[in-house]
Amino acid sequence: MSALLEVSELDKRFGGLRACDRASFEVEQGQIAGMIGPNGAGKTTAFNCVAGFLKPDGGRVRFDGQDVTGFPPHRMFSNGLVRTFQIPQELDTMTVLENLMLAGERQSGEEVWRNWLLPWRVREEEQRLEARAHQVLELTQLGHQAYIRAGALSGGQRKLLELARALMAEPKMILLDEPGAGVNPALVRLLSEHIRELSEQLGLTFLIIEHNLDFVRQLCEPVIVMGQGRVLAVGGAEEVLTDPEVQAAYLSGQRT
Ligand SMILES: Nc1ncnc2c1ncn2[C@@H]1O[C@H](COP(=O)(O)OP(=O)(O)OP(=O)(O)O)[C@@H](O)[C@H]1O
Ligand SMILES: [Mg+2]
Repeated sequence: MSALLEVSELDKRFGGLRACDRASFEVEQGQIAGMIGPNGAGKTTAFNCVAGFLKPDGGRVRFDGQDVTGFPPHRMFSNGLVRTFQIPQELDTMTVLENLMLAGERQSGEEVWRNWLLPWRVREEEQRLEARAHQVLELTQLGHQAYIRAGALSGGQRKLLELARALMAEPKMILLDEPGAGVNPALVRLLSEHIRELSEQLGLTFLIIEHNLDFVRQLCEPVIVMGQGRVLAVGGAEEVLTDPEVQAAYLSGQRT
C-alpha cells in the first residue's frame, strides 16, 4: 500500500538559499508523524509546499494517490489536507462557532458569484457549515465555549480552536506547525491527548513540526529529521535522536 502523503525530492529556493533541498519523506495513513530539526532547517517551508501555500521549484507531492504538486491551498483543503494557522486578531471578536463556520467557508474555495446567483444555496451551505461546526465542537470538547468570543479563550483553548478550524474541512490529514510553542506543559499534554484521540477515533493522519522533544517522543512515530533543507533521518524518536548526523546538525551552532 502506498503512503497517504509522499514527498519526493522537494526543492524550494529563496534567491540563492535552498530552503528545501531534495527532501523526501512519507507519512502513512493513521500515523502521527513528527518533524524536527534546528531553526532554518526547512520544516515550515516543506509544510507550505505540501499544503499549497508555496510552489515548489522541484520534486513531487502525492496525496491520497493523486499528484497534487503545486495545487493551491483551497484544492488541498478540498482534497483533505490542511494546515493550521494561528487565529488572526481580527477574528477575536467573533464567537468560537462563527470562527469555525468562517474557516469552513473561507477555505472551501466556494465561488462567491454562484452563491449570489443562487441564494437558497447560501442557506443550505450555512446549515451544512453550522452542523459541521457543532460536530467539531463536540470532537474538540469546545462545546461550552461555542458562544464565547475567540479573544476570551485561554491559551490552550485557542490552540484547540486552531485545530478545530482545520477539522472543519473533514480532513484526512492535518499539518501542525509547532502546536506546543508558547503553551504551558499541562496544556501541551492536553493538546497531545486530543491529537491522539482524533487519530484513534477518526483515523486522522498528522504531521507535526515541534521543537519540544518530549512531546515528539510521546506522540510521534515516525520522526522525520530535517537539517539544511534535507531529510537527515527517519525513524523512531530514540533512534533518530541518537543518530550522529542528527546530533551534528543540532550541535552546528543553531538554536533548537
Ligand atoms: N519567504 C521566505 N523568503 C526568504 N527566505 C525564507 C522564506 N521562508 C523561509 N526562508 C528561509 O528558508 C530557510 C528555511 O526556513 P524555514 O522557516 O522553513 O525553517 P524551519 O525549519 O521552519 O525553522 P524554525 O524551526 O525556526 O521554524 C531559512 O533560512 C529561512 O530564513
Ligand atoms: Mg518553522
